[in-house]
Amino acid sequence: MVCLGNICRSPLAEGILASKLSSDHFTVDSAGTGNYHIGKKPDSRSIQVAQLNGIDISKQKARQFTAQDFDDYDYIFAMDGSNLQNILALAPNLKAKEKVTLILNELFENENVDVPDPYFGLENGFEIVYNMLDEACEVIAKKLKNNPK
Ligand code: 4NP
Repeated sequence: MVCLGNICRSPLAEGILASKLSSDHFTVDSAGTGNYHIGKKPDSRSIQVAQLNGIDISKQKARQFTAQDFDDYDYIFAMDGSNLQNILALAPNLKAKEKVTLILNELFENENVDVPDPYFGLENGFEIVYNMLDEACEVIAKKLKNNPK
């Protein structure tokens, strides 16, 4: 799960997807394309909305996406089109590129809808983002359970 800062959207996506999958069979992680927040825990508003939904993301630490992630992970979900371009720019080959998709295309196929960045927005932006990610992760979890790598 990849966004810009790895403090708002992708930590939520990581927590939500991990809550829907068995950790014996799946590894879920998140990262940011930017380096501004490396080592920081998620934004308090993301921690709070996750907690309201029974998910603890408070122990996560922000890290930067690297080309190594193409080797380590089978699927890479970008939160928005800018993240997608930044990830693709690091891809070493076509196989790596094919691992990357926009997360909301799981819900709205080929529509290229962004998960809005809630960082500078209103408080309820985090709830809206949570609900979008929960719906998308439900679809992803069903697919992965039916077709694990
Ligand atoms: P995220 O949100 O990409 O969902 O973690 C952001 C967090 C911080 C900044 C931008 C986006 N920032 O510019 O510091």
